[in-house]
Amino acid sequence: MKEYFPKHTFQNTTSLLNPVFGLQESQALSYIVLDKVFNISKTAIIVNDPFIPDTFQLKNYESIVQRLLKNEPIQYIFKEAEFYGNTFYVDKNVLIPRQETELLIQIISSFKNWEKPKMADIGTGSGCIACSLALSIADSQIVGYDVSPEALQIAQHNASKLNAHAVFSPLDILEDEIPHIELDLVVSNPPYVMDQEKQQMKKNVLDFEPPLALFVADENPLIFYKTIMEKAKKALKRGGVLFFEINEQFGKETLLLFQHYGYSEPKIYKDIHDKQRFASAIWE
Ligand SMILES: C[S@@+](CC[C@H](N)C(=O)[O-])C[C@H]1O[C@@H](n2cnc3c(N)ncnc32)[C@H](O)[C@@H]1O
Repeated sequence: MKEYFPKHTFQNTTSLLNPVFGLQESQALSYIVLDKVFNISKTAIIVNDPFIPDTFQLKNYESIVQRLLKNEPIQYIFKEAEFYGNTFYVDKNVLIPRQETELLIQIISSFKNWEKPKMADIGTGSGCIACSLALSIADSQIVGYDVSPEALQIAQHNASKLNAHAVFSPLDILEDEIPHIELDLVVSNPPYVMDQEKQQMKKNVLDFEPPLALFVADENPLIFYKTIMEKAKKALKRGGVLFFEINEQFGKETLLLFQHYGYSEPKIYKDIHDKQRFASAIWE
């Protein structure tokens, strides 16, 4: 069996990935690949003691590098994504939780002094928002809804794995009512990418992430926002809050829609890249 050196394997992996990802991202990916496949940590790369991989590890390594070169997201390859300090199971049936969405959890958690809030998350996907809220807000009750049965299974799996008190149920928000009254909070990160934005999107998203989670028709890009604003009126209690993640292009329109549907105190929040990313309003 051949001996391998961690430093050389790392450099090799980085140069294989470099043409597609550039140096910085290739290095970040190489650290993960070496750790997951050969159990070689960053420190082990510095120490550089030789190791002897078995045939299975070598085959796995080659296949993972090839998949990465075809733009498959590393989160789908290893079936996990980090979100708000926890590791979520993900596969091709759910959107990979985005780093910017983490700020939504922070904004909601510190929005007010929540007391045993009842909440609903529409379009829950991996359950990242529902589980993170359940884990951050004491004594909260949250139901995550999705039209995709596969997503609901994944969300339930994540809740069990993380010991988060969230439950999940099927719902097509474009057809069904939200089956609650007197909720303290409705939150949604619905599909909001217009079909016409596809040209500017990266292959790793377009070729691998579920279209159902991403796209809306160009003619009605705010369909989910309008529908949820209308339906949440019956589900929220007076003083209840509606929170959205939004398409950065539609901040102003979202504020106008909140007014149109009779909500008060409409507000926009920017993400870490200074883009209009979240919106909230109160149902009085
Ligand atoms: C942008 S993803 C958000 C996933 C997750 N909440 C997150 O923030 O990572 C939108 C989600 O809405 C779901 N969805 C799409 N159409 C829907 C519908 N008509 N009713 C309910 N959920 C829907 C998709 O399956 C997907 O999981």
